[in-house]
Amino acid sequence: MSDTYTHGYDERENARLRDQAATLVDLLHADTFFPAESRMLEAGCGVGAQTVTLALNSPSAAITSVDISEASLAEARRAVDVAGVTNVTFRHGDVFDLPFPPGSFDHVFVCFVLEHLSQPIVALRALKAMLRPGGTITVIEGDHGSTYFHPDSAPARRSVQCLVELQKRNGGNSLIGRELYPRLREAGFQAVRVSPRMVYVDSSRPHLVDGFTRKTFAAMVEGVRSAALSAGLLDPATFDQGIADLYRAAEPDGVFCYTFFKAVALRR
Ligand SMILES: C[S@@+](CC[C@H](N)C(=O)[O-])C[C@H]1O[C@@H](n2cnc3c(N)ncnc32)[C@H](O)[C@@H]1O
Repeated sequence: MSDTYTHGYDERENARLRDQAATLVDLLHADTFFPAESRMLEAGCGVGAQTVTLALNSPSAAITSVDISEASLAEARRAVDVAGVTNVTFRHGDVFDLPFPPGSFDHVFVCFVLEHLSQPIVALRALKAMLRPGGTITVIEGDHGSTYFHPDSAPARRSVQCLVELQKRNGGNSLIGRELYPRLREAGFQAVRVSPRMVYVDSSRPHLVDGFTRKTFAAMVEGVRSAALSAGLLDPATFDQGIADLYRAAEPDGVFCYTFFKAVALRR
């Protein structure tokens, strides 16, 4: 099953994923721990931006990290080596056709992957099959519709909408964060608990201004400029004004807000 990954795989996008992960470690992972000896599957590990945190938080868990991109896996291996982490094994694989027997894992972790898939429920069912009865899944997704900022700007909102539209045309759904509860239920998970994690950024939090507003969010929208213009979604002047206005929210009197959704659920 192949979906188009809206953000691409170039070095700039890899750096963006690493900035995003480093900035959000506390917000997203302060409560991500897996017991000693547990078998954990990370599906769609990308360049390993979350993998290192997972491994450091749960040093006695056995983590298997899978991605469909060989190039990303090579980056992820490097990231794990640099961090000196030894409890991760990497495998090439597709979440829809994973190379493991059913019930092989105690936990599955999936972050920023479902938003890129045209059949997220099929993926969730495939991941559920990887869990032993009583095993749990953790899913983290964003929701671009949760973006607001000061000063407000119609061009900035329209440039964000270009990303939402492009991802939709690629078969994905960048508004999936708000849907985690119903999607997990539909896929047959039990005891679903969703916890919204809001990133609030003003200039009293300079690491978030730089790491999130600029390097994660504005950079992500800026990254689809040529695709958005080629698709005729917006004229260049309005798109560029929108990007400038997103960076404007990183100025000393600017404010930026975005909500991630973290869900934990059980396979009975
Ligand atoms: C936005 S990246 C997120 C990577 C990582 N989880 C993180 O949070 O930084 C999405 C990843 O999902 C991977 N992916 C997309 N479809 C996949 C599939 N069918 N099977 C496995 N990985 C897939 C992509 O190759 C990409 O590395």
